[in-house]
Amino acid sequence: MLAPASVLDYRELARRRLPRVMFDYVDGGAFEEATLNANRNDLQRLALKQKVLRDVSHIDTSVALFGQRMELPLILAPVGFAGMMARRAEAQAARAAEKAGIPFTLSTVGICPIEEVRRATSRPFWFQLYMMRDRGVVREIIARAAAANCGALVFTVDLPVLGTRYRDIRNGFGVQLSSIARMRLGWNVARHPAWIYDVGVKGRPLTFGNLAGVVKDATSLGALLAWTTTALDPSVTWKDLEWVRGLWKGPLIIKGVLDEDDAREAAAAGAEGIVVSNHGGRQLDAARSTISVLPKIAEAVGSKVTVLMDGGIRSGQDVTRALALGADACMIGRAWVYGVAAKGEAGVAGVLNTMKRELRTSMALIGKTRVEDIDASVLQH
Ligand SMILES: Cc1cc2nc3c(=O)[nH]c(=O)nc-3n(C[C@H](O)[C@H](O)[C@H](O)COP(=O)(O)O)c2cc1C
Repeated sequence: MLAPASVLDYRELARRRLPRVMFDYVDGGAFEEATLNANRNDLQRLALKQKVLRDVSHIDTSVALFGQRMELPLILAPVGFAGMMARRAEAQAARAAEKAGIPFTLSTVGICPIEEVRRATSRPFWFQLYMMRDRGVVREIIARAAAANCGALVFTVDLPVLGTRYRDIRNGFGVQLSSIARMRLGWNVARHPAWIYDVGVKGRPLTFGNLAGVVKDATSLGALLAWTTTALDPSVTWKDLEWVRGLWKGPLIIKGVLDEDDAREAAAAGAEGIVVSNHGGRQLDAARSTISVLPKIAEAVGSKVTVLMDGGIRSGQDVTRALALGADACMIGRAWVYGVAAKGEAGVAGVLNTMKRELRTSMALIGKTRVEDIDASVLQH
């Protein structure tokens, strides 16, 4: 490959650059990966209807969400441990997102802290919250996001427990290993010197930046993962959402909704947005694909809340498909992480350029010049 052309090309570059344990952590899903695969397959099954002889000389890919104008109907999704894929990856990706005119979302369990991403950017980015048992820590982190002028709080609710990802177990991520297995893991890592230098030397400190001082033993990846499983609160209910609502004055987005009643409840609880998401197929394996549940959820909430969708979006054609079925915009997770792992900030910029070009071409060929005009009529039944 002389130059990456598509998001899947960036995936291939990331696969070559990362140690196997890192690539599989990003690429994999829960259990048998049925939901992970369904996200992609169900999107690809949707055919777009070609329309000709429309004036498509001026294509506008911009949208307005929560009072913010965005150049594309795309948001970079929160990804934990992203800074393990490239040096200070969250700051690099946030810069690329800002240049592309779209929001970046920082994960609670990112490597870069809120303040570092704030320094790297000049426009508001979004912050993603996990509910931890220690409500004092949660209160403080929400205050830090507000102080950094974050444009939205994305409250992720589909991780009361951490999904089991078989690839991680097989690769020894967060698992006790025999000494032979440890040597094999070390050998695989040693064969990726560019990654070791970028992340292990230049990318330090490798801990959860937002939780420095809270995570007691951040000496290894396994320790961070183990901390996550004990610190996150499985007892969270809609009542806690009210508490978060009381603390956060800006737009509040509930991420991880797959059911119409839950979507209505999120709207009733005062959320301005929802993300139809199955966490990229990393939590409940056997859950439906997001594209298949999107239309009913969008219909159930109508215009009461902004509907975002993620899971399997890898191209501008996928974005068009999601818009057609009721999404106001899409989040992308793995797509940007492949980009940053492959080529840092330039890789994220490359992914976003690729998707923008694909979206523009798709819009021209379905005869639509504005994002708002894309509806179910663009699908071939
Ligand atoms: C490696 C990885 C880590 C993730 N970490 C988080 C996280 O910390 N918080 C969160 O809300 N979602 C997290 N997600 C889910 C993403 O935000 C998003 O929902 C998902 O990646 C969308 O699917 P896609 O990767 O197919 O685009 C993670 C996803 C991946 C792949």
